Amino acid sequence: MNTVALGVGGGIAAYKSAELARALMERGFAVQVIMTRAACEFLQPLTFAALTGRKVISQMFSAEDNLASAIEHIRVAQENEILVVAPATADVLAKFAHGNADDFLSTMYLAFTGRVVLAPAMNTNMWNHPATRENIRILEARGHEIVEPEEGELACGMVGPGRLARIEKIADAVAKSRSPRSADFEGETVLITAGPTQEPLDAVRYITNRSSGKMGYALAEEAAARGARVVLIAGPVHLADPAGVRTIHVRTALEMRKAVLEHLAEASIIMKAAAVADYYRSNAPRLKEKKTAARLSLELDPTPDILAEVGRQKGDRLLVGFAAETDHLSEEARRKLENKNCDMIVANLVSQEGIGFDSDENEVLLVMRTGESIPVERAPKREVARRIFDEMSRLRLALHAAK
Ligand code: PMT
Repeated sequence: MNTVALGVGGGIAAYKSAELARALMERGFAVQVIMTRAACEFLQPLTFAALTGRKVISQMFSAEDNLASAIEHIRVAQENEILVVAPATADVLAKFAHGNADDFLSTMYLAFTGRVVLAPAMNTNMWNHPATRENIRILEARGHEIVEPEEGELACGMVGPGRLARIEKIADAVAKSRSPRSADFEGETVLITAGPTQEPLDAVRYITNRSSGKMGYALAEEAAARGARVVLIAGPVHLADPAGVRTIHVRTALEMRKAVLEHLAEASIIMKAAAVADYYRSNAPRLKEKKTAARLSLELDPTPDILAEVGRQKGDRLLVGFAAETDHLSEEARRKLENKNCDMIVANLVSQEGIGFDSDENEVLLVMRTGESIPVERAPKREVARRIFDEMSRLRLALHAAK
């Protein structure tokens, strides 16, 4: 889902941004509202919280959690693709133009790298003032989109330009600017593995693990949404094939290996989110083994390590492995990165409740070939997938520049 940060400035038009929040949601955006202190004089944060289903941010520091609030502006800046401010008051425009960071909205703006849409609203004289004109020039030169205010009778009784543009017009401007990330993987073929494998013990029994495939499927959807051609190789999962993605269904580790190697030549990026079984019964009987009263011991053989094999023949391809760990997350991830010749390892602590295997959310550490380690905090798997692709995009540039 596309995400928008909606900044609400302190003007009489603040009440209209509740309609804007709804219009954005109708266009498929998740909306994170940020209100300035002055905006809270005009409207209760609760209105937006009820509309968007998300906590509204209205102050820089929260008394409950100092550490989290100290970096929240960075998190919000990273998690949203577009920042729209409506109404953008003369004060908000001045702060943005000159880089003053004295509240949440203006601080988050400095940390924000996505598209910015500003819908000013103010008294006509304020709008025409040389200081505001100059600020608008600065912001337009920075590439921000200004949705010009309309002419009409203003709350102060004056007639002239300054009335907030129509909500539909602002929402359309936001929807139009949705594209910066939408094609950044065009021209790439991304090969993704997902889900568990099932290793037969006999005709009716097998060993497997708790992987649901959700993480790998989220990666496939994100890759397709960003313009890539996607080949998804999935173990047995209960998920619908993602739209616009070539999905190949396999059962065992050996079948997964065969499918990966068959499609390797066409791939420019390989992402191995599957939880491949480490052992299998190579001599599994074709028939059902009869139950006896005797104790049963099974002899298992190691499966081929597909990631390591791809690592040995990857050439210029970008290789992203996963690491499911219960301790020493960072050390184990770096060890896997080196041993399997990966460019990135997505490491998750699978012992933690509510993330990793068979859950809707994940929290990961991205361990990069460049030496960096980037934490991605707990979020829906699609959101985590978005962050992984953002970092992959940066890594692609860094590796290209290093050649
Ligand atoms: O499917 P979900 O329910 O959404 O859960 C997501 C997940 C927890 C499965 C996923 O986030 C994850 O961590 N996937 C990797 C699981 C795993 O097998 O980790 P590992 O540390 O054992 O393996 C390391 C890497 O080697 C993985 O990229 C794995 O795909 C690969 N591997 C492992 C064994 C093998 N024989 N061949 C491989 O290619």
